[in-house]
Amino acid sequence: MDVIALDDPTDAQIREWHAVLSAVHAADPAGEPAPEPEQTAERLLGGDRGSRQRLWAVADGGALAAVAALRLPGEPGADRPAEIDIQVRPGHRRRGLGRRLLASAAGGLRADGRSSVIAQVHAGTPAVPFLESHGFECVLVLRGMLLRLDEVPAERVARLVAAGPPGYRLIRWQGVVPDEHATALAHAKHAMADLAEYEGAPWDAHRVRETAEVVAKRGDDLYTVAALDASGTVVAGFTEVVVPHDAAGRAAQYDTAVAPEHRGRRIGIWVKAAMLEWLAVERPEVREIETDNSGDNEHMIAVNEELGFRVERESLEYQAPTSALP
Ligand SMILES: CC(C)(COP(=O)(O)OP(=O)(O)OC[C@H]1O[C@@H](n2cnc3c(N)ncnc32)[C@H](O)[C@@H]1OP(=O)(O)O)[C@@H](O)C(=O)NCCC(=O)NCCS
Repeated sequence: MDVIALDDPTDAQIREWHAVLSAVHAADPAGEPAPEPEQTAERLLGGDRGSRQRLWAVADGGALAAVAALRLPGEPGADRPAEIDIQVRPGHRRRGLGRRLLASAAGGLRADGRSSVIAQVHAGTPAVPFLESHGFECVLVLRGMLLRLDEVPAERVARLVAAGPPGYRLIRWQGVVPDEHATALAHAKHAMADLAEYEGAPWDAHRVRETAEVVAKRGDDLYTVAALDASGTVVAGFTEVVVPHDAAGRAAQYDTAVAPEHRGRRIGIWVKAAMLEWLAVERPEVREIETDNSGDNEHMIAVNEELGFRVERESLEYQAPTSALP
């Protein structure tokens, strides 16, 4: 069984790729919805804007036994890590297919001038020993939390919204931020310092708009609730939720942040409660919201637990220097 590059996958190969993802998901659902064929096709054909990708697979007869996607954000040689995702059918594991796909991806990393690669995996799965035996180290622990909206009484949400701190008011919008708040929102996004560092680019009005446009281009809906301070020109805190067009009832929490000088006034839980109230009216089909929190972000985890989010799984982010790969 050889590794083949699928630079321009055919419809049949996309179907086969999806069959691998489905087989892996069926063996270990990890609380996540099964992948949809359209999602797989979109990802393989389009990729994200601002990012290229390379694909490899191992064929066993007419079927694919294992697949690997390498996402290359930014320009070649950019000082940003690439992202690798390898999936091996349960019946084909421990035969070295994962290692061979990783070696092919390492060739792709070198050809693109990338110095490192990251992988997101679930705690307690075979991916952990696989990555650790190939030069990867865990750099981030993420708590995957889920809120089931039918478990959150509307009165509790209403109470939280009514208990907003004096001197602030709520605003909200769908899609791209209104012009008059774009710069203020970019300032508030700086409050998510860790993420800004990781993404490698400072937040400004242009980047805020561009991020929202990427969501819209995918056909997904972005909802934002923000708290303005008394001057009306400062975004003290905000929260974003995305309802994917193929959501099947599940929305995704995006960024939430409160600027340092406005912390300690329950603005985080206020904007999140207001978001729940808005979604209940605007998108009643949304039944659950999922979110990932950095394991050391105790404040955000506490806010989410108070709202009713429960930890579903722990995700780990692993990173390896290209030089350590096979
Ligand atoms: C993780 C995964 C890709 C590994 O694929 P694989 O083809 O079974 O891995 P390999 O056979 O190449 O394993 C290479 C080495 O990794 C380690 N390893 C892999 N799976 C392991 C397991 N379940 N337990 C302990 N060590 C393991 C071993 O050191 C193994 O060498 P050995 O078999 O000689 O002991 C596969 O289990 C999988 O598809 N998991 C689900 C999807 C996923 O989590 N992907 C990770 C994203 S990068």
